[in-house]
Amino acid sequence: MSEEKKESGIQVITAKTAGFCFGVKKAVDKAFELAEKGVELYTYGPVIHNDEVIHRLEEKGARILNTEEELRAVSSGIVVLRSHGVPKRVIDMLEEKGIEYVDVACPFVKRIHEIVYRESENREIVIVGNPAHPEVEGIMGWCRRPATVISTPEEAEQYTPPEGAEVCVVSQTTFHHKKFQKIVEIFEKKSYYVSIVNTICNATVQHQTEAREIAAGVDAMIVIGDSKSSNSRKLYEICAEECKRTDFIQTLSELKLKQDGSINTVGITAGASTPNYIIEEVQKYVRANF
Ligand code: F3S
Repeated sequence: MSEEKKESGIQVITAKTAGFCFGVKKAVDKAFELAEKGVELYTYGPVIHNDEVIHRLEEKGARILNTEEELRAVSSGIVVLRSHGVPKRVIDMLEEKGIEYVDVACPFVKRIHEIVYRESENREIVIVGNPAHPEVEGIMGWCRRPATVISTPEEAEQYTPPEGAEVCVVSQTTFHHKKFQKIVEIFEKKSYYVSIVNTICNATVQHQTEAREIAAGVDAMIVIGDSKSSNSRKLYEICAEECKRTDFIQTLSELKLKQDGSINTVGITAGASTPNYIIEEVQKYVRANF
């Protein structure tokens, strides 16, 4: 973490891990590189969960396709496939139609696709994650049999595989690290054969650990991220547990936190899909106004 002091004595602590992770940076760079070439460009799903970045991409001419029907209607140009990964059937469809595409799924997400594709040949698959998240939808789309998605320890307790089946458990890359450990303990206590692959991304673990450490020691905390971004929301939950005065904002204009004389230290972190310029803007504002 980096610490900065202002003359008034306010201390601003910004997480070193705040902002773009390796996978998001790679995906965004590739999408902008194509957009800058002026090619007919589509993205299937938002490339990353950050409206600011998506608007900039649209300004450069990219068109965002949100459904498989819209994607099926494409007959030319290049399609960028979102960083959260897509189901196998989407790639098969593009191949069949001969549509050029660039898959910018993060390599850590692709690794999960490979695991579940391989393991689902002989095992039941359990995905620990949010069933409504596109990453989980993508992972399910690589399973060769219907997968079960669980997101709470209670659901893990209730889960029973078919008689005699072996089970493989994976996690969404951005799943809450501690909650995952709890769920793993429940699975380990069950008597059936289970292999657990912790596929939570390291960047997520570092992000969450650093956010918790900072939030525990400051008077107020600011988490910057899009509410659609799973890892940003998790950072907010973690920080709010440690620091009562935690604000979750997408851009500076949403900041509600105000100096009332009781704030001497402010912590800042940001989700993996938050661009640097927004983090800097917030930092500058806090330094000047708190
Ligand atoms: Fe990839 Fe981890 Fe980022 S899975 S997209 S490096 S949070």
